[in-house]
Amino acid sequence: MTNVTRLCTTKALLTVNGQYPGPPVVAREGDRVVIKVTNNVKNNISIHWHGIRQLRSGWADGPAYVTQCPIQTGQSYVYKFIVKRQRGTLWWHAHISWLRASIHGPIIIYPKKNASYPFPRPHQEVPIVFGEWWNADTETVINQAMQSGAQANVSDAYTINGLPGLMYNCSTNDTFRLKVNPGKTYLLRIVNAALNSDLFFAIANHTLTVVEADAVYVKPFQTNVILITPGQTTNVLLTAMSQPPNATFLMLAGPFATGTAAFDNSTSAGILEYVTSNATAVNSSSSSLPMMKPTLPAPNDTSFAANFSQKMRSLGNPKFPAAAVPQKMDKQFLFTVGLGLNPCPQGQTCQGPNGTKFAASINNISFILPTTALLQAYYFNQSNGVYNTTFPDNPPFPFNYTGTPPNNTQTLNDTRVEVLPFNTSVQLVLQDTSIATFESHPLHLHGFNFFIVGQGMGNYNASTDPSNFNLVDPPERNTVGVPSGGWVALRFLADNPGVWFMHCHLELHTSWGLKMAWVVLNGNGGRSQSLLPPPKDLPPC
Ligand code: C2O
Repeated sequence: MTNVTRLCTTKALLTVNGQYPGPPVVAREGDRVVIKVTNNVKNNISIHWHGIRQLRSGWADGPAYVTQCPIQTGQSYVYKFIVKRQRGTLWWHAHISWLRASIHGPIIIYPKKNASYPFPRPHQEVPIVFGEWWNADTETVINQAMQSGAQANVSDAYTINGLPGLMYNCSTNDTFRLKVNPGKTYLLRIVNAALNSDLFFAIANHTLTVVEADAVYVKPFQTNVILITPGQTTNVLLTAMSQPPNATFLMLAGPFATGTAAFDNSTSAGILEYVTSNATAVNSSSSSLPMMKPTLPAPNDTSFAANFSQKMRSLGNPKFPAAAVPQKMDKQFLFTVGLGLNPCPQGQTCQGPNGTKFAASINNISFILPTTALLQAYYFNQSNGVYNTTFPDNPPFPFNYTGTPPNNTQTLNDTRVEVLPFNTSVQLVLQDTSIATFESHPLHLHGFNFFIVGQGMGNYNASTDPSNFNLVDPPERNTVGVPSGGWVALRFLADNPGVWFMHCHLELHTSWGLKMAWVVLNGNGGRSQSLLPPPKDLPPC
């Protein structure tokens, strides 16, 4: 635990190596990474390496009760994995309850030795990690919400590298400053580690060139504003103009939030400050020039979101070829993702709308985490009583998802998985529903990248929409924002045996049940198609 003060509130935060946000994990493509995690706090812990494919090494993926039981107080677990065919920015975070609020940090993957970037080498590379600051203890926040069945409280501030910035009370000195030299180019490695909010980000008077998303290169495009959901990472180039020393520009991070649910409608600010290379002490005299302020889209600007995601295209050129997009489908799924209101369980009092209880589901199933790890149960053939394999391929009761909700929308609480034979080509359409309210859901898939081949508003139409799919240069990611009141179509090849979690990366929605798991079977082509055996120090439950 580390005492940290923000917004005039001092809190004991759970931290890694005493740092908030946590330290970067730095690797090179092809490296074997070994990280020993020792739990010195009272909470159970597990760490997820978000976006790392974990080819055959699912035991190191990290989600508690999915691929491992948590690391208990005083225990250690060594995570071992190889970084294969990935370079860029990813991140790591606690993957149990809401502990990732303070336990997170960037993963920086450099290209192989002597390999270049598909853009000019930047002068400097700077991790920019967005987070949320809560004056309250986040475990108390979620426990109360789950007990009362009501909406949870929202955060008190957004942060840039752990700092709320000068637009909040008591925070002038807690403002992130990015110092740049005129004419130089910087690679900003941006991570959204916020618990519950998609974010816009912009720097006054500066264009950003997006070059990579979720550790995959994209066709470079310029934008004044980026949109990034929790779970996503985006690398952008920032070229410093010709400006006098001491020139300063505001950078802002603020919420993208649709629907009627409460959200933190505040803005984190940082300062871009021009310095000459030898002027390191410019810091204190820098307020003499007026600061330009960027304009962020309105919090509910869904058309910005739609346009922005259309611009993302995988790079795919001869020197930096893109991975192959599955063209033929072995399996097609339609999953609804959305919020709902369940009747109050007997003997409980619920504080949701009209005495109901908030829930969230995929194909109407509110996923329940087991008390042992799914991967262990699968590997040792002990699934009985842990999970069943009856996850529906399609919504159990189709209706107009973006229109009037049906009368009975009660979700089913269960632990169900979808089983895929090795190398199945999957097409997965995720459809938002508007039962309690529509909302954008950043869906994250563990163990794979998927191609985002299509998206649209309203209800997905299986007979007309596929003809517009982009099978040429779709972006390849691990987290996608399902449009509020719309759908996305994803494709992936199930070439990584193991048990893989898929969930909304808004912690509140995950807690309400917007999650599920895939079981990908071993191939029968020898060891290279099989999950490796569990490590000896895998934590017991
Ligand atoms: Cu970044 Cu399952 O999480």
